[in-house]
Amino acid sequence: MTVLHAPVGVRSIVSFLVAFFIVASSIVFLFDRGQEAQVQMVVDHGHQEVKEKAEAGLLGGSTEAADTSKEECNWSRGQWVYDNVSQPLYSGLKCTFIFPEVACEKYGRKDSMYQHWRWQPHGCDIPRFDAIRLLERLRNKRLVFVGDSVNRNQWVSLVCMVEASIPDDRLKTRIFNGSLISFKALEYNATIDFYWSPLLVESNSDNPIIHRVDYRIIRADRIEKHASVWRDADIIVFNSYLWWRKQNDDMRMKVMYGSFEDGDARLDEMEMMDGFEVAIKKLTEWLGEYIDKNKTRIFFAGSSPTHFRASNWGGEDSNKCLNETEPIYRVGYKSADYSLMAMAKSYFERLEAKGIHVEILNITELSDYRKDGHPTVFRKQYVALTKEQIAKPASYADCTHWCLPGVPDVWNQFLYGYLIMYK
Ligand SMILES: *[C@@H]1O[C@H](CO)[C@@H](O)[C@H](O)[C@H]1NC(C)=O
Ligand SMILES: *[C@@H]1O[C@H](CO)[C@@H](O)[C@H](O)[C@H]1NC(C)=O
Ligand SMILES: *[C@@H]1O[C@H](CO)[C@@H](O)[C@H](O)[C@H]1NC(C)=O
Ligand SMILES: *[C@@H]1O[C@H](CO)[C@@H](O)[C@H](O)[C@H]1NC(C)=O
Ligand SMILES: *[C@@H]1O[C@H](CO)[C@@H](O)[C@H](O)[C@H]1NC(C)=O
Ligand SMILES: *[C@@H]1O[C@H](CO)[C@@H](O)[C@H](O)[C@H]1NC(C)=O
Ligand SMILES: *[C@@H]1O[C@H](CO)[C@@H](O)[C@H](O)[C@H]1NC(C)=O
Repeated sequence: MTVLHAPVGVRSIVSFLVAFFIVASSIVFLFDRGQEAQVQMVVDHGHQEVKEKAEAGLLGGSTEAADTSKEECNWSRGQWVYDNVSQPLYSGLKCTFIFPEVACEKYGRKDSMYQHWRWQPHGCDIPRFDAIRLLERLRNKRLVFVGDSVNRNQWVSLVCMVEASIPDDRLKTRIFNGSLISFKALEYNATIDFYWSPLLVESNSDNPIIHRVDYRIIRADRIEKHASVWRDADIIVFNSYLWWRKQNDDMRMKVMYGSFEDGDARLDEMEMMDGFEVAIKKLTEWLGEYIDKNKTRIFFAGSSPTHFRASNWGGEDSNKCLNETEPIYRVGYKSADYSLMAMAKSYFERLEAKGIHVEILNITELSDYRKDGHPTVFRKQYVALTKEQIAKPASYADCTHWCLPGVPDVWNQFLYGYLIMYK
């Protein structure tokens, strides 16, 4: 770890540098293009409980599947089954609140197989999604997704999953307010929010629209500004993954400790992974100290894989995920980095002693199979394409976010399963 100490005399230089970087970061980056992103959900805890409930026949429709396999139930382990009867759960063209970067059909995607896959865990079923039941569960409550654009992708998915059950437009609203986007089902007084906070702690990427992707500074001991927005929520779904990945070999995370006001500002530079650990540690400490465990359920969404490297599944790297119309069928295929999630889990486990449980939504492997699930060129482009890009669609293909309806709907079925099974 390189330490750029900034004792008293040098403080103003550091101050200048940080200010400079923050200004430098303010290159308008209209929403996110393909390179960024992050998500992940893991279904994890409650292994035993899931098993017991399955045995007691409490899992939605578990009977058929439970009998066909002796394998222990684990939502994260299973296979994609083509099912054009039960899937998709809603129409992307009809969803009032879908976002243009994930509205693939609207932006010209013609193949539709990607909408018809159902995730089938071995040994049990995920509870069947029922929008009304979820809205009842969220009555007078607030659910907040906190994280990056992939978490926003999951938020849009959940909003589309429930809004089809509220045909009257006067009974649903969506309000944009800076880093916060708020969906409300008025009859239920149910709120489903998304809050932009891609690195979890305070950082130079906190502006939801203006954030540079390749030069990042986090504040190791500052999370309060963000926490004040989500601390009163009944349910929180955090994510953080892709922003910690290196965009190039030299990329390192700048980490600021202390503050200029207190005269103890110090700037470190470290591996991206170590930066992730700093952020998770801060989040864990904050939750341990301040979260109302009697009120707030906490989830952490597992890492959402990208599909930029086609050679991983036998394709041409230069094509990225362009024209992919079917999942990867090779059982056990993995390309995402599973270690960040494991690290996060090891920190969250320290909260158990205080009676605080963080549920990991382990959606990484199931998403890893879905090279066909990304918008590629079928999304709104917020920055005009150049001639070179138009000539070479793979150069701007988005293999990070997910078309809706699609893969994040399953992540939300996991979330739904936890919310209705474990009150
Ligand atoms: C599912 O399997 C993973 C990997 O073996 C494990 O970490 C996790 O605890 C299991 N979760 C459940 C709910 O069984
Ligand atoms: C659903 O898929 C089956 C098998 O692929 C096919 O025969 C059938 O025509 C499809 N139905 C619809 C409504 O697309
Ligand atoms: C509506 O929901 C919010 C939580 O989002 C809650 O604080 C408030 O008390 C609810 N209103 C009523 C009338 O129950
Ligand atoms: C927007 O958020 C701020 C706090 O960040 C709050 O004071 C304000 O009332 C919100 N505005 C709307 C229209 O919700
Ligand atoms: C949480 O609930 C427990 C048991 O009902 C109670 O003893 C405790 O005071 C509650 N804590 C808070 C912060 O409300
Ligand atoms: C993708 O599909 C389009 C339209 O079918 C075709 O013109 C193009 O050559 C394909 N590109 C790749 C990389 O397969
Ligand atoms: C998530 O599930 C995968 C299997 O799908 C497993 O390999 C991994 O260990 C799990 N991660 C966590 C943190 O539970």
